[in-house]
Amino acid sequence: MNTIVLIGFMGSGKTTIGKKLADKYNLKFVDMDEEIEKSEKMSINDIFKINGEAYFRNRETNVLKMIINKPNLVISTGGGIIEREENIEILKTEKNVIWLNVNENTILNNIGKELEKRPKLNGEKDVNLKIKELLRDRYDKYKKASNVEIDANNKNIDEVVSDILVYINKNMLL
Ligand code: S3P
Repeated sequence: MNTIVLIGFMGSGKTTIGKKLADKYNLKFVDMDEEIEKSEKMSINDIFKINGEAYFRNRETNVLKMIINKPNLVISTGGGIIEREENIEILKTEKNVIWLNVNENTILNNIGKELEKRPKLNGEKDVNLKIKELLRDRYDKYKKASNVEIDANNKNIDEVVSDILVYINKNMLL
């Protein structure tokens, strides 16, 4: 079976949706951030604080390379996976890269109290502005890296999952 890869901004629901898809298709769920935390024995926040973002991005690329060719997975990526052109090129070799596209309001609603777990936003004076800037910078990169864009605004998790299932069934991607 082909692996499904979920990309999208922080708070787009990649992890929750990924777990549901994995259940549905009997695939193994892998969360890239969790893999990095396990191997570093540290939270993402601490990795950013202690080793810096560049170190985290290196680990992210390594993990991506390690898992991308494995079959039968649903992979939830970190929101910044498309920050590196190298990662985009790796993602473009896959058939099932699904972009969960969300706007600023959805992001703010979904991140809620979990803001302190997001080093890219945590500590920003104007979180709204930072989200806007990151979204603007990243939009074309998500588009380039993905095979399909799923609008994940104003929908509950099951509705997003059902949109993904329609796409997968129509395109016979599994
Ligand atoms: C990041 C997103 C995070 C995590 C790290 C950096 C980003 O993942 O990888 O904090 O740059 O957007 P989530 O999208 O799962 O929050």
